[in-house]
Amino acid sequence: MIPPRLIFKNGKLKILDQRLLPHKITYLTVRDAAGTAKAIKDMVLRGAPLIGCAAAWGFPLELKSRHPSSWKETLRLLESAARVIKAARPTALALFYAADRMAEKAAGFIAAQKEFSPAKYEALLRALHREAAKITEEDRAACASMGALGAGLLNNNSIVLTHCNAGALATMGIGTAVGVITEASTRRKIRHAYSCETRPYLQGARLTIWELQQSRVPSELITDNMAAHLMKTAGVNAVIVGADRIAANGDTANKIGTYALAVLARYHKIPFYVVAPTPTIDTELKTGKEIEIEERSSEEVTFINGRLVAPKGVKARHPGFDVTPVSLITAIVTERGVISPVNRRNIAKNLRAATISKTGKQ
Ligand code: MRU
Repeated sequence: MIPPRLIFKNGKLKILDQRLLPHKITYLTVRDAAGTAKAIKDMVLRGAPLIGCAAAWGFPLELKSRHPSSWKETLRLLESAARVIKAARPTALALFYAADRMAEKAAGFIAAQKEFSPAKYEALLRALHREAAKITEEDRAACASMGALGAGLLNNNSIVLTHCNAGALATMGIGTAVGVITEASTRRKIRHAYSCETRPYLQGARLTIWELQQSRVPSELITDNMAAHLMKTAGVNAVIVGADRIAANGDTANKIGTYALAVLARYHKIPFYVVAPTPTIDTELKTGKEIEIEERSSEEVTFINGRLVAPKGVKARHPGFDVTPVSLITAIVTERGVISPVNRRNIAKNLRAATISKTGKQ
């Protein structure tokens, strides 16, 4: 069983510390927006949808920890909470989606009030608590829906390959790409799954293979540079990944290394599937060129488990994500359906559709 990722209780948020997984299960408690933002920045939690859910809880946390005496002051607190949360990491749209949605909810509530009172402030807190719970529940339901839709795309006896961690640990539900694999496995469609270790942060080695192991999916861990060989020799017949941000034309930002896998998949004529909920789609960005790619510390490349593995003083690059061009993507699965062929028109159509439940109903 994958432990709960976020627990909101008594005005505190307990966050499963993913930096220590799979060997230690511990929680870090945060009490305000700055604490939430720091946990996101420090990778205590990660994965686009989960970052979004934590960002949402940052708002009721912030208000619970403060005691303003006017709506003006409350609005100032909320603005500063939104600023600090949005500065945590730049690439995953879910973070910005959740922060904007929470800030709008609060602004709407405050605009409808005449006088400030402690009772009204408590009512605002309850409204924000409900909204954060709604964002969390929407993510859980979206995962279930994508799992079912994605599993429907796979043939019996599939041999799949995934990258990074787009599983339960990256969401509040069963995951996106890994949710598809585990759902397909319960339908007995998966012969084998490969998880790329995902250098430098090793999300595949520490998290995804652990999830697959616990779900009893026949699986093996590989280093990133084994992917081409296995596509050529091991019968891989689907590559399935998540996404952090998708531009309006379908260009997709995901964990560094995803683009290389898409190129390899095309060469080997293997379908390449992206699985991501609609809050990942950024209709304001025309193409992937406009997606901001997070540059992370070079020490995450030169050190492994606290040990320096490169010459002392060497320079290293660490872009955390890359952009896969839409031309390499066979289909994008959202909670509203399967987008294929992937193009601007079909993405816009998907965004207008209703969510499809796990049972296939709208
Ligand atoms: O740096 P991370 O671990 O937050 O990156 C995570 C990924 O790139 C995932 O593939 C993506 O967020 C999709 S998660 C459902």
